[in-house]
Amino acid sequence: MTNNKKNNRFDGTVLVAGATGRTGQWIVRRLQEHGIDWRLFVRSAKKAADLFGLEYADRFATGSIENTVDIESAVSGCSAVISAIGAYVTDPESPPPSVIDRDGMRAFAKIARDNEVKTFIQVSSLAVTKPEHPMNRYQDVLSMKLLGENAIRSVYHEKGFCYTILRPGGLQDGEPFRHFLQFGTGDTLMGVIDRSDVAEAAVVSLWHPKARNMTFELIRSLPQPQSTIEPFFKQLP
Ligand SMILES: NC(=O)c1ccc[n+]([C@@H]2O[C@H](COP(=O)([O-])OP(=O)(O)OC[C@H]3O[C@@H](n4cnc5c(N)ncnc54)[C@H](OP(=O)(O)O)[C@@H]3O)[C@@H](O)[C@H]2O)c1
Repeated sequence: MTNNKKNNRFDGTVLVAGATGRTGQWIVRRLQEHGIDWRLFVRSAKKAADLFGLEYADRFATGSIENTVDIESAVSGCSAVISAIGAYVTDPESPPPSVIDRDGMRAFAKIARDNEVKTFIQVSSLAVTKPEHPMNRYQDVLSMKLLGENAIRSVYHEKGFCYTILRPGGLQDGEPFRHFLQFGTGDTLMGVIDRSDVAEAAVVSLWHPKARNMTFELIRSLPQPQSTIEPFFKQLP
């Protein structure tokens, strides 16, 4: 699972939030592949151990973004956050997007910034600026995500800090590096993308200058094997 090679473009420790989710798992794998040090913010240490190995248990911070004390202890000592947390909108037992994607992300970004976490990278969604989108029938999830994004932009747009908000299209479960990717701004793209490519884009955003303080949409286009996705960042302004 570990990779002894060291990454020469980012040498801090990255806290992956939502690491036991489907995109989060890929983020951990891509960080390992890039030789970047990681910690996990998860609700279940058992689920994390089953997925990543009990030998990494000392890297797991357990808790919820509903709880500020849990967030505070998770971010401690980390230099960047990559979050792929999202409310379970079809589960009536789960906290709604107003609690997770809006209030939870607000608290997470502020506590991370106050604890000197320099970089905050968030996996959000296409169409968050479209209140009439059908997904908003699910407890206004897209509008809540937009308010969460706004909170990250507002607390991370300060000298010495930076953010990246990735807004993927519909998420699918294929292997990475199988498609051309299309990046855009202004929330006009529509389409799908593999979680694995979103994870890679989130990891590359740690160091890519085009990702700095950038909010962008991403979808996949034609199938074509890729060795890296870094050239796609050139599509950004
Ligand atoms: N589905 C789509 O087509 C689509 C499209 C665009 C964007 N998105 C967004 O992309 C992101 C990743 O999606 P995904 O489908 O890969 O996610 P997912 O598999 O549904 O995982 C969601 C993650 O959020 C975590 N989480 C939920 N509530 C939490 C809380 N209170 N505290 C801490 N963690 C919490 C879950 O923890 P547990 O593992 O403990 O349950 C899980 O790890 C989400 O924000 C999603 O809304 C999805």
